Amino acid sequence: EQAPVLTIDGPGGAGKGTISGLMADRLNWHLLDSGALYRLIAQAAGKHQVALDDEAALAELAESLDVAFPVEDGQPSTLLEGEDVSRAIRTEQAGERASLVASLPAVRQALLKRQRDFCQSPGLVADGRDMGTVVFPDAALKIFLTASADERARRRYQQLQEAGVDASLSSLLKEIQARDARDSQRVVAPLKPADDAITLDTTRLSIPEVVDQLTELLVQRG
Ligand code: C5P
Repeated sequence: EQAPVLTIDGPGGAGKGTISGLMADRLNWHLLDSGALYRLIAQAAGKHQVALDDEAALAELAESLDVAFPVEDGQPSTLLEGEDVSRAIRTEQAGERASLVASLPAVRQALLKRQRDFCQSPGLVADGRDMGTVVFPDAALKIFLTASADERARRRYQQLQEAGVDASLSSLLKEIQARDARDSQRVVAPLKPADDAITLDTTRLSIPEVVDQLTELLVQRG
């Protein structure tokens, strides 16, 4: 018997990361942040001087990627070859590089098993772009989380401001639109809702409202 999976896919900035973390906490399930894996491959490529279009070498990196996601005092962190890269992989530039790496079929293929290994008892919340369409097609509940591009840019802006990082709302909006376009137009695993996904537009919803709605949907699915 496979552990149940809740997939949360959608464009960048829709709140997937926050919502997935809160759902995993509430359910006491494991969490897969698949975007972090693509960010980590791009990071490792920089470290080992692998070009971002060298598909075979990047797939090799994906295969052998030495990563860990330890939690200390409730604070999760991300280690690449033992080095804490939690902050380094979160920049806009790192996201941009991740999205380049993610367009390569051999890299996506190399990550499949690694991602599926996260599915363990009592359950998994999987956050990404293709969790419901490709990686966990038999998930118990598939959610496609969206918000308008303007609202997503505004949220990013607020996050950055709170972190004390300078940013411009209009350039954030442009970056979000460019990444949306690349993620939805790529040939392998493009960003789109699974046929059996439930789309939730969070433009006018608060975080607790989204968590409550998802919990309700899971209960309905039994
Ligand atoms: O979600 P996050 O912003 O961390 O993802 C970074 C990039 O990785 C995305 O823009 C997307 O190109 C890619 N990605 C993907 N498939 C996933 C998760 C992320 O292609 N399941």
